[in-house]
Amino acid sequence: MDFIIKPQNSWAKTNTDCLVMPLFDTSKASALFAAVDKEMGGVLSRLKKTKELSNKAGKVTTLYAPESASFKTLVTVGCGKKSDISAFRKNMTAAVNAVRATQSRNAIVLLDAFDTEDADENTLIKHAANLWAIADYRYDETLSKKAEATRLKKVYLTSTLSAAKAKSLASQGNAMAEGAKVAMNLGNLPGNICTPSYLANQAKSLAENYDKITTKILNESDMKKLGMGSLLSVTAGTEEPAKFIIMDYQGAAKKTKPTVLVGKGVTFDSGGISIKPGARMDEMKYDMCGAASVFGTINAVAQLDLKINLVCVVGAVENMPSGKATKPGDVVTSMSGKTIEVLNTDAEGRLVLCDALTYVERYKPKAVIDIATLTGACVVALGQHAAGLYANDEKLSADLKTAGDETYDRAWPMPLWAEYDKQLDSKFADIGNIGGPEAGSVTAACFLSRFTSEYRWAHLDIAGAAWKSGAAKGATGRPVSLLTQYLINNG
Ligand code: BES
Ligand code: MN
Ligand code: ZN
Repeated sequence: MDFIIKPQNSWAKTNTDCLVMPLFDTSKASALFAAVDKEMGGVLSRLKKTKELSNKAGKVTTLYAPESASFKTLVTVGCGKKSDISAFRKNMTAAVNAVRATQSRNAIVLLDAFDTEDADENTLIKHAANLWAIADYRYDETLSKKAEATRLKKVYLTSTLSAAKAKSLASQGNAMAEGAKVAMNLGNLPGNICTPSYLANQAKSLAENYDKITTKILNESDMKKLGMGSLLSVTAGTEEPAKFIIMDYQGAAKKTKPTVLVGKGVTFDSGGISIKPGARMDEMKYDMCGAASVFGTINAVAQLDLKINLVCVVGAVENMPSGKATKPGDVVTSMSGKTIEVLNTDAEGRLVLCDALTYVERYKPKAVIDIATLTGACVVALGQHAAGLYANDEKLSADLKTAGDETYDRAWPMPLWAEYDKQLDSKFADIGNIGGPEAGSVTAACFLSRFTSEYRWAHLDIAGAAWKSGAAKGATGRPVSLLTQYLINNG
């Protein structure tokens, strides 16, 4: 999407297909309302009297303008009382959908007239660009009828900020949307297409598209040599070869320490021998959404050309039952040397991640963040609104929470106390892979924390945030915005 910043009050001088104007719940009509009303030949004030023009939050009205006006269509967006960023996002989304339902190829959004209590204009520009850019995502890769190409290509945003500042914020919102679309698409692809090999090829094409990205793929024999017995125990039951994907983005001097992102890339999680029940098992194609968010984030970082070093690592495997599959009670040896008793083959994400977390020690990273659809228990704890946030470093935790708040891609801090960690003790190995029925998201994080003592580390459990079920089934592209914002803020 093309975003062009326009000064305040420049809309009448800009010929556009569509004008998007907020309507707030105030008794006195604004100068803006009067000016647009004049262009509309007085239609607005007439409709306001008959209450046909609603200023109720989320209510949009589409009106066609006289030929003399600088715009062909007017979309008014009810915003109710001056509200918060959450309502702003809802109202703006309603506006985007209304504009998309018209023939408009471009639109001018009177962004400076939108207002919230809890966000400044900087924040609103970023959110607006993000929402306009993400709205054209349609999944069609496995449909014989392809989605219609979007007509809307150019959006003007009016702003009181300096054009350079506003433009850079809009680019950030746009890049986050493009990254989220990459993540949504990978997430939505079925498990028979989006295999570990497919993800590896995605990584290779990223390296072809961006000079600053190099890709390395390790196959199963490479992983065996490295001693990744834990990761390999997950792939034992499937015919699909596992891949260990490393993507290196170099945007700063070589000696600058990188931030490392580690994504869980289980392209289908049947549970293995501890097989899952049938209901909604199809949704376990989404068990690679952590990996998808890593792909989305490196895309956004490359698009923004950030001056940082970033290493992205994905453990890509399929978890299936078979005569060769790992069995409950089996003991495996991880790359760290720690032995693990696999008490439940459905707790496979942590088995993949622990070897990846040991592998990344070699980068002497500034920080390591892993992202995983790790536990059903996290969905019970936090639902879909927040990712579970765990960290062995207070500042890293706070910085990630801030990035989530800024982008409304939120995460919520959870504990890593020794009392929970104890639930993982095993009689037959150094550690068990499950911690019993209580606090399942916490004990999963505690498991990972036993492999991350060498660096600052955080874990995002995105089991609830990564996709929606039911009628709106689909990947959300989270937490690409959170991660990208974190990298913009902290490198
Ligand atoms: N991928 C699942 C977690 C999951 C389940 C995410 C449902 C989203 C929705 C993970 O591999 C898993 O199966 N975890 C088990 C752990 C348990 C066996 C300790 C779970 O959550 O039930
Ligand atoms: Mn599982
Ligand atoms: Zn899983």
